[in-house]
Amino acid sequence: MSRAQTIPPFHVMDLLARAKQLESEGRSIIHLEVGEPDFATARPIVDAGIQALRQLKTHYTAATGLHELRQVIADHYQHKFDLKVDPRRVVVTSGASAALQLALSVLTDAGDSILLADPGYPCNRNIAKVLAVESIDVPVTAESLYQLNAAHIAKYWQANTRAAMVASPSNPTGTIVERDAMKALIEAVAVAGGHLIVDEIYQGLVYDLEEYTALSLSDDVFVVNSFSKYFGMTGWRLGWMVVPESYIDSVDRVAQNIFLAPPTISQYAALAAFELDTEEILQRRVTMFKERRDYLLPVLSEMGFKVTVSPQGAFYVYVDCSAITDDSFQWAKDLLEKEGVAVTPGIDFGTFEANTHVRFAYTRSVDELKRAMCRIARFIK
Ligand SMILES: Cc1ncc(COP(=O)(O)O)c(C=O)c1O
Repeated sequence: MSRAQTIPPFHVMDLLARAKQLESEGRSIIHLEVGEPDFATARPIVDAGIQALRQLKTHYTAATGLHELRQVIADHYQHKFDLKVDPRRVVVTSGASAALQLALSVLTDAGDSILLADPGYPCNRNIAKVLAVESIDVPVTAESLYQLNAAHIAKYWQANTRAAMVASPSNPTGTIVERDAMKALIEAVAVAGGHLIVDEIYQGLVYDLEEYTALSLSDDVFVVNSFSKYFGMTGWRLGWMVVPESYIDSVDRVAQNIFLAPPTISQYAALAAFELDTEEILQRRVTMFKERRDYLLPVLSEMGFKVTVSPQGAFYVYVDCSAITDDSFQWAKDLLEKEGVAVTPGIDFGTFEANTHVRFAYTRSVDELKRAMCRIARFIK
C-alpha cells in the first residue's frame, strides 16, 4: 500500500457531509464540530484585501512573504510581548498548515520520528506520514493538561527522534502549556538533541490567563502561528512561522520549491490585521468566545460529561463521555441523526481513550449553544 493510501480520513468530514445532506432535506442542524470562528473576517482586513485587488497586486511575492508583512509580524511580538524578533526569521506561509509542513520538512528525513500528544491535532501525524516520518503518539491526560511535558520527552524520545510538537492552546483540549512547563520542555528537547515545534495558532484566544510566546523563552524553537483563528481569516490561507536563525535559508529553499509564495492578496489584507480598529473588533470576539465557554462548561458537567480540565483557550471543550457512551463515534452519528447536533468524536484526534471522548467547538452563539444543549439533554435521556 502506498503511504498516501494509509492516510486516515477526518471522520468528522463524514459527519459534516451527512449534516449537509440532512440540512438539504430541511432538517435543522447545529454545528458544534467546526473548528473555525463563526465570525466573518473583520471589515478592515477585507477592505485592505479589496484595495490590493483594485491595485492589481496579483503577482507572486518572495517565498518567505512580503517584507512589510514580516516586519509587521515582528512588530506585533514587540507590542504584545515586548520581544524583539528579527523579521528575517519570520516566514509567511499558506496557513499554519504550510508552516507545519515546512518545519517537519527541514527537521526530519525519511525514517526519523517525531513526538506528538494523543489526543492532538491529527494533521501533524499525517504530514509526518507523507514525509515517511514515524509519529510517536504519546498518551496525555488531564494530569499534564493534555500536553507533552519534559518527563514525556525523557520517556518516549528514541534514537531516531528529531522533534517534538505541541500546540498551546491545544486542539482538541483548549489547554495550554504553562510557562514553566514550556521552559522545562524546551530544555528536555535540547538535552535530547532535537527541536521543539510550538504551534501558537490559537494565540489571542486565551481566557483568564496572561499570554506568553515560546519565542520569549528560546531562539531555538520553531513557532508556528496563523491568521486563521484569532484573526478570523481561515479562507485566506495565511499563517507564519518564526524559525531559528540557522534555519532561515533551508526553510526559504523548501518554501520556494513547494509553495513558490503564500497568497499575495491575503498578505496585503493581513497588513491591516494588527491595526487598532481591527484589534478592537477581534477583542470583542474574544469576550464572546469566553462567554460561550463559561456557559458551556457547567451545562456539560450537569449533563454527565466530565470536564477534566477547564480549557483556557481556543474554542474547544474536550470531554470524557464515558458515563454516557463507550463508543463516541457511533454516539456522534446517532446524535446527528436523531437531534441534528454535530460534534467531533475523539477518534479524530488519536487513539488514546478516543472512544470515550468528544469535542465540542463553541463556534456558535450562546443562543444556539443553548438549543444544542437542550437537544443533547433530550438525546441522553
Ligand atoms: C492546532 C492547529 N494547527 C494548525 C491548524 C491549521 O490551520 P491553518 O492552516 O488554517 O492555519 C489547525 C486548524 O484547525 C489547528 O487546530
